[in-house]
Amino acid sequence: MATQLLSRVQSTPISEHVGMEFKHVDLNDLDENTFDAMRQALAYHGLVFVRDQQLTPEQHIAFARRWGEIDINNYFPANGGHPEIAEVRKAENQQTNIGGGWHTDHSYDQIPAMGSILLARETPPTGGDTLFASMSAAFDSLSDGLKDTLRTMRAVHSADHIYSKDGIYSKTDQAGDLKGHDLRTRAVHPVIIRHPRTGREILYVNPAFTLHFDGWTREESLPLLNYLYQVAMREEFQCRVTWAPGSIAIWDNRSTWHHAMNDYHGHRRLMHRITISGEPLS
Ligand code: OGA
Ligand code: MN
Repeated sequence: MATQLLSRVQSTPISEHVGMEFKHVDLNDLDENTFDAMRQALAYHGLVFVRDQQLTPEQHIAFARRWGEIDINNYFPANGGHPEIAEVRKAENQQTNIGGGWHTDHSYDQIPAMGSILLARETPPTGGDTLFASMSAAFDSLSDGLKDTLRTMRAVHSADHIYSKDGIYSKTDQAGDLKGHDLRTRAVHPVIIRHPRTGREILYVNPAFTLHFDGWTREESLPLLNYLYQVAMREEFQCRVTWAPGSIAIWDNRSTWHHAMNDYHGHRRLMHRITISGEPLS
């Protein structure tokens, strides 16, 4: 179409299985065609990444609303005055970061978030990258026999062992920043879900929030879960994003995992996250 020929917008895959970077776009002034191309890229590549954006918190919220309803995070501190924006931060004197292990956000919810929109505000001089991994590529790599077995199974997810009073973060120097210690979460989801837009099958378990297979003990579940995690963590399914202030990532939380590198001790990193609501999984 003429508008596409005239537009300078470029999109380039970040790796074979996950991530698409858009260049020459201004998210404050995004036409419908480019926004549709981003939606499509998100569905098929799991991650859209754009650099050098100048978004106020209000503009970040306005951009997020184009993707769907905003889901307010119960655990992360809010950015003063904007409950929609959660702060993901690590100070110079903190050791623990947020999201420093492979996970997908909100799998402990009955209707997990569709995705998140993470905007870098302050970044360390080096390090602080985020890794993403494609859970549809991980699924595709399994044998037909294992795929068939997994299609019959469900898994139980919770965030209580992470965020509750005696959870993992309570023993770290992030404890004072986090809230929601008394919330209780539990959700049962199919181990293999279908992407609502592409129909592609996705491996939907993750090391942070999946407790066990439904009807199995944790002890019985761990060997198979760990096998699936090993497959899912293969480098060939990953991409890496290096941030600068103004970089923004939109990820599909059903079809990807992410992992925040914690390799910048002594420096500050501050990210603004808005979470977008999802739809029931099947
Ligand atoms: C998150 C998260 C990763 C990062 O916001 O959900 O895991 O790199 N952040 O900050
Ligand atoms: Mn996360």
